[in-house]
Amino acid sequence: MKDWLFCCPVCKGQLKGDTVAKCQSGHCFDVARQGHINLLMSNAKGKRHGDDSAMVQARSRFLDKGYYAPLRDKVKEILGTGLTILDSGCGEGYYSSLLAEGNVLCGIDISKDAVKSAARRLPSSQFAVASVGEIPLPDNSVDCVVCIFAPESEEFKRVLKQKGRLITVEPMEKHLFELKQAVYDKPYLNPAVKTEKEGYVFKSGCEVKYTVTLDCNEDIEALFMMTPYYYKTGKTDQDKLKSLEKLEVGLEFFVAEYEKSPMAD
Ligand SMILES: C[S@@+](CC[C@H](N)C(=O)[O-])C[C@H]1O[C@@H](n2cnc3c(N)ncnc32)[C@H](O)[C@@H]1O
Ligand SMILES: [Zn+2]
Repeated sequence: MKDWLFCCPVCKGQLKGDTVAKCQSGHCFDVARQGHINLLMSNAKGKRHGDDSAMVQARSRFLDKGYYAPLRDKVKEILGTGLTILDSGCGEGYYSSLLAEGNVLCGIDISKDAVKSAARRLPSSQFAVASVGEIPLPDNSVDCVVCIFAPESEEFKRVLKQKGRLITVEPMEKHLFELKQAVYDKPYLNPAVKTEKEGYVFKSGCEVKYTVTLDCNEDIEALFMMTPYYYKTGKTDQDKLKSLEKLEVGLEFFVAEYEKSPMAD
């Protein structure tokens, strides 16, 4: 019988079971065909959360072409092996699939469609639909939380073991600037990345910067759909991309590594 890393969102008991994940108090969660479980509490279950299926598919299509592979490799190098890790806001599992090699990985995301794809991609890891605001993991249970372009949470400190690490990836100031130039009359720079976090000691930071050439409209549109600007941009500006067939765009990521401060427990 499968032992889940995840705990029951109602009573925090350990979950066990192959087709139904059940805690000792009898709370049950169906295991989906793809192998994941939905641990969002019932009042939040019905609503659509996070990225929808079109966004998930666009991101999968784009990422699988390898444009972000140097970033994924760098995160893996900093992460290492022999660890129990949480990929928080794992999306459709593009990063999880490499990070899981030599590690025990679980992933959560609030988007059902994203988790479905991640579970399909990585049957040997555990995935749950859940919010970072209420992570269904016991206290002090993971060596590392990885958070790539996803929301952060106070919960990270609770689920991290003593001296556990948090690895984050954030866009730097000029990340995707040429894409923004193609859409907006006055593109803004992203805010500068900050490396102080309460309850953590900053250990290392690494800039990953390179340029990619997107040579079809599908990739340009997919990249734009992956960004937070997509839904904030009016139709007129969105349409500016429709006729673009080629774009050289700079990618600038900051990978930061923090250690949970001894004072945070
Ligand atoms: C920009 S995507 C990044 C996904 C993935 N880490 C990647 O880089 O491909 C942000 C992800 O955070 C998820 N997300 C947003 N709010 C969340 C929340 N409150 N709890 C869990 N996941 C959330 C979204 O559904 C989405 O998959
Ligand atoms: Zn329970």
